Amino acid sequence: MPAVSASAPGKVILFGEHAVVYGQPAIAAPVTGVAVKVIVQPNLLQPPGSIEIDSPAVDFHATRSELPEQHPLNILFHQIEQTLHIARLPAMKIRINSTLPAGAGMGSSAAVSVAMIRAITRFIGLPLNNEQVNQIAFEVEKAFHGTPSGIDNTVITYQMPIYFIKNYQPRLIHLKEPITLVIANAGEAPSTAEMVAGVRQRWQQFPQRYEQIFRQIGRVVEAALQILENGNWQQLPPLMRENHQLLQEIGVSSPSLDKLVSAALQCGAYGAKLTGGGGGGNIIALVQPEQADSIAQKLREEGALHTWLTTLHPSENG
Ligand code: PMV
Repeated sequence: MPAVSASAPGKVILFGEHAVVYGQPAIAAPVTGVAVKVIVQPNLLQPPGSIEIDSPAVDFHATRSELPEQHPLNILFHQIEQTLHIARLPAMKIRINSTLPAGAGMGSSAAVSVAMIRAITRFIGLPLNNEQVNQIAFEVEKAFHGTPSGIDNTVITYQMPIYFIKNYQPRLIHLKEPITLVIANAGEAPSTAEMVAGVRQRWQQFPQRYEQIFRQIGRVVEAALQILENGNWQQLPPLMRENHQLLQEIGVSSPSLDKLVSAALQCGAYGAKLTGGGGGGNIIALVQPEQADSIAQKLREEGALHTWLTTLHPSENG
């Protein structure tokens, strides 16, 4: 069996984070400038089931037998065996290369899962369809993050902008116009699981107020979907502002995120908001392509630790 590889992109949530956990819709898009690449090779001298995993970017080296039963990677291997009705995966060496920052809200755990599931199942000659890949990646995401909505694994599996409601098939969004975004990192954030738990706690305390905000976020998402599919992106900035304000109200923004959002708007971005779990992590700014580099630089001067540029193309959507 020759070596086989598979890659998966990063992602950003454009609208609807957190409310998506409560059944509201959200919109996410792939970020193709960063990726996880997984290479699977035979491990010739080893018995079936013996799997070596190397991920130099995060200094992770392990064999399957060393991993605790409930480790996300063990869940991934078991899920593949179950889906394919095979007793034991063959002996393999798995290498994970990544340009996707871990823990920065760009979906690195889902990207690792999707690339690994595709590489392993291709390696053994039994590739899975998107729905099967997504299903397994969701189980692995649960092991990583507790109670995720499933939006990360879904957008990364389908590699297209998606309109997503928890527990439903995603709607693939065919963009009418290209959209250029600057993604800027405001620094370390608590884990998404912690941020989601914090919102849950406050929702339990103030259910009516929080549910009203979640519904309002849902309305913003519906309006954004119309614009993305029908054009007229100039109408997106007010929706980004409203979504950011609603996220502030549920307590998931932070001074550093607010500062970068203001800085982006001051230096010419059309719209900006936090993206993902919040509490730190990333913002997205909608920009004119010609201004993307200068806005990114300005955001770094204003304290962003890292910036990425990404353009979502209508042509990528078939
Ligand atoms: O932190 P991220 O980018 O993985 O985004 C999490 C999005 C949430 O809506 C906050 C949680 C979820 O599972 O959907």
